[in-house]
Amino acid sequence: MTVLAIVGATGAVGSTMIDIIDSRETVPWSEIRLVASARSAGKKLTVRGEELTVIELAPEVFDGVDIALFDVPDEVSAEWAPIAASRGAVAVDNSGAFRMDPDVPLVVPEVNAAEAANRPKGIIANPNCTTLSMMAAMGALHRAFELQALVVASYQAASGAGQVGIDRLYAEQAALAGKEVGVRAGDVAEVLEAAGLGGDSPFPAPLAMNVVPWAGSVKDDGWSSEELKVRNESRKILGIPDLKVSATCVRVPVVTTHALAVHATFASEVSPDKARAVLASQPTIVLRDDPAAGQWPTPLETVGGDPTWVGRVRQALDFPNTLELFLCGDNLRKGAALNTYEIAETVAAG
Ligand SMILES: NC(=O)c1ccc[n+]([C@@H]2O[C@H](COP(=O)([O-])OP(=O)(O)OC[C@H]3O[C@@H](n4cnc5c(N)ncnc54)[C@H](OP(=O)(O)O)[C@@H]3O)[C@@H](O)[C@H]2O)c1
Repeated sequence: MTVLAIVGATGAVGSTMIDIIDSRETVPWSEIRLVASARSAGKKLTVRGEELTVIELAPEVFDGVDIALFDVPDEVSAEWAPIAASRGAVAVDNSGAFRMDPDVPLVVPEVNAAEAANRPKGIIANPNCTTLSMMAAMGALHRAFELQALVVASYQAASGAGQVGIDRLYAEQAALAGKEVGVRAGDVAEVLEAAGLGGDSPFPAPLAMNVVPWAGSVKDDGWSSEELKVRNESRKILGIPDLKVSATCVRVPVVTTHALAVHATFASEVSPDKARAVLASQPTIVLRDDPAAGQWPTPLETVGGDPTWVGRVRQALDFPNTLELFLCGDNLRKGAALNTYEIAETVAAG
């Protein structure tokens, strides 16, 4: 008898979590509770053919719960995950509230599943979606060749900013449809303004027909919070405290699936063929790497699936023991809901 609660069941990540539960052949849960704010309380959602009513977040919703998944904003997790833990649940948190807490493991089951058992606060953190999109591949390559440095450029989807990000991209695309824009500085912004989409965007610039070299909040020396998360979380998950990491995070007009261009340097001798052999042997990675046949990973082919897709594996010219790779991972599945759910399955299996 294992009782599961999904807090934030009505959001972009929570909805994907329900899709994943529906797609599993069997689940270990005797009861599933769907939880959100007062805004969504009373809403009916169907999980594995059963209609469930969303209940409002309150301390007593955790009574009798074994595992509570948190798919809510940072401040909600920061307040409520400890409450869930104090009522006996293991809290698995998707937000950024606990990821760098030394008493909270940051888990990617393919890389460090054993860490899930080491949870002094009763809380396990799920990594940020950009970092997660490359962890299964980087973990496998690290085990084989000993990773020393990562230089990463991300191409991040609108849904990384939640349901409001998805809604904003569709609204911008609808406003711009059929218009000849993008040929003069400012013309896209003018059309959006005229359509009532001038302000109040989750993105700092128009996203449709554009790329925006910014994700997250402003940190010291010009870095964004997203870029620092890639550095800090990669080090913690891989267990390499002195891993050299430098990231540039960019938002692109893709609905879902983050892509990453990765320049990875190893201590041991590595070659594209050796790396492909390692990657192809991983159950959660799809290797798609035949440029002559037009085979490489794209967000549109990756979206909606569980594996991370890897391709464009090359020996870096001018950099010894260094590979260039291009990866795509569905940010709402492996990047958020799927990894969190896999942590819950790991905990439930004891
Ligand atoms: N989107 C991604 O790619 C991604 C990836 C990794 C991690 N994450 C993280 O996952 C979390 C959820 O993100 P999301 O993209 O799913 O956001 P979202 O679409 O905005 O959904 C937020 C969810 O949180 C609930 N919520 C908000 N305030 C609440 C409160 N005070 N009490 C109870 N429930 C509350 C909402 O319920 P209502 O329906 O009642 O408003 C909704 O279910 C965030 O921490 C995010 O950073 C997101």
